[in-house]
Amino acid sequence: MKVLITGGAGFIGSHLADALLARGDEVTILDVASDLKVRHQLGHPKFRYVRDSVLNREIVEGLVSWCDLVYHFAAVVGVEHYVGDPYQVLNVNVNGTQTVLNVAFKAGKKVVFSSSSEVYGRSLEVPFTEDGERVLGSTRIDRWCYSTSKAVGEHFCFAYHKMGLPVVVLRYFNVYGPRLDRMDVGRVISIFLGQLTRGAPLTVIGNGEQTRCFTYVEDTVRATLASGATDEAVGRIINVGSDREVSIRSLAEMMIRLSGSRSTITFVPQESIYGESYEDIPRRVPDLRLMKRVLRVTPQVSLEEGLKRTLDWFRGQSVEGSP
Ligand SMILES: NC(=O)c1ccc[n+]([C@@H]2O[C@H](COP(=O)([O-])OP(=O)(O)OC[C@H]3O[C@@H](n4cnc5c(N)ncnc54)[C@H](O)[C@@H]3O)[C@@H](O)[C@H]2O)c1
Repeated sequence: MKVLITGGAGFIGSHLADALLARGDEVTILDVASDLKVRHQLGHPKFRYVRDSVLNREIVEGLVSWCDLVYHFAAVVGVEHYVGDPYQVLNVNVNGTQTVLNVAFKAGKKVVFSSSSEVYGRSLEVPFTEDGERVLGSTRIDRWCYSTSKAVGEHFCFAYHKMGLPVVVLRYFNVYGPRLDRMDVGRVISIFLGQLTRGAPLTVIGNGEQTRCFTYVEDTVRATLASGATDEAVGRIINVGSDREVSIRSLAEMMIRLSGSRSTITFVPQESIYGESYEDIPRRVPDLRLMKRVLRVTPQVSLEEGLKRTLDWFRGQSVEGSP
């Protein structure tokens, strides 16, 4: 197959590209990134990197007409962006998605759209079922712009599906693994990794009782591959996650134990990190029945094993990068 991955130089896209190339597919990624997580694939005869934006319609048209399947991953991701640059989040995630879907619709190409557990907002109806309620705060709270942008993307998916576009919506739940963000930035695991490496205290926001279900990237990629190949997935929203619910405080304790670090834990008020434009989500747990039944994927990598592999990878990187 010929597969286009928008945002394919990022964390999940790079792992998906590896898996597609390993099974013999041709892969093109379209990304604006200078920090390429697929650098190791440059030079592969079936791999191509196009450095441009999903907002560039002409480029998107050319690449979509070349491919058989589109994974649309390009997005502005990360809480620091939701509260720091909501315009970029809305522009890329809404207008970029609209461009990709419109071009794919005209070319008759299937699209898998990477949505997010953020769409559920702070709903208390756990586990979150795909057709469950979404509960969001005021539009004056910037943190909701990402959730809203992904929900608009989903609405566009279903609007085009109604007109005949084959589309699958995946809602990812806290994916982690090698090549997650740089240490100290981005998501909670990479922030904790940076603090562990420096022997600094791990900063847990609030009381640390908020929970997440972290998903090892290999499991995410298996579900993502299946979504592109399963007819029954078309026209559906499918949660992609794990069912191991863990508090952020327990995650911090586990990472300290697994790394053998002497770091301690410090609790900080959320306003001191993200200002007033942030609200935390108390529990985030997916209902995985559709993922298991339609995609036939069950998470296989335990949190302990996944964290060990992630720690080892980041340690390898810091040794390689050291003078
Ligand atoms: N990692 C998770 O836990 C998670 C959870 C829910 C949803 N998602 C979604 O999955 C997708 C991939 O996430 P990720 O974790 O790999 O994030 P990531 O930030 O590593 O990857 C996103 C990529 O999109 C690229 N991008 C941004 N603007 C672009 C533009 N205008 N044109 C082309 N490319 C652009 C970025 O450069 C980046 O490489 C995203 O759509 C994200 O919203 C991820």
